[in-house]
Amino acid sequence: LHTRLLVKEENVSQAAAPVAARPITILYGSQTGNAESCAEDAAEMAKAHGLSPIVMDMDDADLAQLATTERLLIVCSTYGEGEMPDNAQSLWDAISAEDAPGFANTYYSVLALGDTNYDGFCVAGKMWDERLAELGAKRIADRVDCDVDFAGPAENWMSEALPTIAQKGSDQAGDVGKVENKPKKEKSKYNRQNPLEAELTAKRVLNKAGSSKEIVHYEFSLHGSGEHYEAGDALNVIPRNRPDLVSELLTLLNADDDQIEPYNGQNRSLKTLLTEEFEIRLPSKELLAELALRTGDAELNRLLENNDKEALDDFLWGKDIVDLLRAYPAELTPAEFLSLCKPLAPRAYSISSSINKHNESVHLTISSVRYNKNDREHHGVCSTFLMDVAEVGDKVKCYFSPNKNFAVPADDDLPMIMVGPGTGIAPFRAFLEEREVREAKGPNWLFFGDRNSATDYIYEDEITAMQKNGLLTRLDLAFSRDQEEKIYVQDRMRENGEELFKWLEQGGYFYICGDAYRMAKDVDVALHDVIAEHGGMSAQAAQEYVTQLKKQKRYVRDVY
Ligand code: 2AM
Repeated sequence: LHTRLLVKEENVSQAAAPVAARPITILYGSQTGNAESCAEDAAEMAKAHGLSPIVMDMDDADLAQLATTERLLIVCSTYGEGEMPDNAQSLWDAISAEDAPGFANTYYSVLALGDTNYDGFCVAGKMWDERLAELGAKRIADRVDCDVDFAGPAENWMSEALPTIAQKGSDQAGDVGKVENKPKKEKSKYNRQNPLEAELTAKRVLNKAGSSKEIVHYEFSLHGSGEHYEAGDALNVIPRNRPDLVSELLTLLNADDDQIEPYNGQNRSLKTLLTEEFEIRLPSKELLAELALRTGDAELNRLLENNDKEALDDFLWGKDIVDLLRAYPAELTPAEFLSLCKPLAPRAYSISSSINKHNESVHLTISSVRYNKNDREHHGVCSTFLMDVAEVGDKVKCYFSPNKNFAVPADDDLPMIMVGPGTGIAPFRAFLEEREVREAKGPNWLFFGDRNSATDYIYEDEITAMQKNGLLTRLDLAFSRDQEEKIYVQDRMRENGEELFKWLEQGGYFYICGDAYRMAKDVDVALHDVIAEHGGMSAQAAQEYVTQLKKQKRYVRDVY
């Protein structure tokens, strides 16, 4: 036995040895990079089960070829209200068509990523799972649907699916060494469980006095961490709940500051738990249901039973848990209350700096969420934690999320077109800085806007300087409330459609960052229209042109 083990280990260490391969395809549909990094983790783990993994972007997959795959794992996120990630759409269209090939020889399992705060939780993953079964593929492990805290469930899925799928299908003679040998960036040692404590080194409001908005520039030091990031990546910030909200809740729960509650096998003070561990601003569905049950309130019960999302959203609009506990006094004990709250999730922000320009530093550009409702001030959890609670000099818990496809073009000579109104400008400041450091010759075009030019033209000095020194080739501004009629970035795109189409034809990259629900959708429509009009194409041909842009990762979006 001993010698056999040794032989095995030897085989493993000689990676290029021409042994029989047990290939496995790990296909990902990813919007922000999380599903992609899960797919990579699964590939690492697959090797330990004697498998030769290929990690594949859904946009690079060929459906007919995929149908011949014996072992297939799918990691797919859902974004917005139940949408396929951009890189999954085209393969999804193909596989959901009537003429899709059968998958009779395929063993598979699906990992779905999602967010229970949105409707259509994990629907993209569910759709893949169901469609593959319909086409005759054999599910070897149940799909796992992950909420924002996906690391644990994802790992469970891998430990379930990989050993099982490794036993299925045939060996294939082949050169294992060819498979997935591209050099990989080393993974950061910091993550949700083990965050980096980065010092907040600077904070300044970007809007001028009198603005209706508060967009804030933050800088954090990476000194001594060895951490690195690429322009286009995100930084996840782990917030703490505000002391004022925590005390309001302690009062409503009839609890003392120093009351002790058991949590994860430890005794912690309720105050600390409310501050550090739970989402206590917006209600979970479970909390709402419990309030309805206990108070027997007819309106709330009707809203929850009717499954009318719009009516429920209208009712909940702007309300936080304090509003709800006051309106529906259900006399929950602290322990009951905690059991109805979700864990406090990190908030991901698009990074607004290039580390190559700002050594050992990372910048964020965040709009503070503040509004008044029911005669109370309401505060966004993370944006106002950073603005009102964290002080310059404090350490803030955070970790990076890479987003490989949302990056400056690998070819420095190709044009970049960036559409980023409001805080959507964040990653484009990083892109421009990155191109400046690289001395990239490619032309750069920014579409930016916000409400009023006098108060909301954030980073104006920097943008003007970039224009002067030639880095910013073109700048089009859309200040929506400077005049009677709204002017938006997509209006500027249409006005400059001929030029925009030229840039695309020159191999240009088209980026959008910002609001997913209205802005990004309207900009997408404008892009199609510009291509149809100035490319002399039918609507369908323009659609195909955009699909190709997406496949080539020349149309990428960072939207939320
Ligand atoms: P508004 O608030 O005046 O309507 C950043 O928030 C900027 O995006 C603001 O100028 C805002 O305009 C604008 N905006 C709002 N809806 C938009 C949409 N559907 N498309 C593009 N920009 C939009």
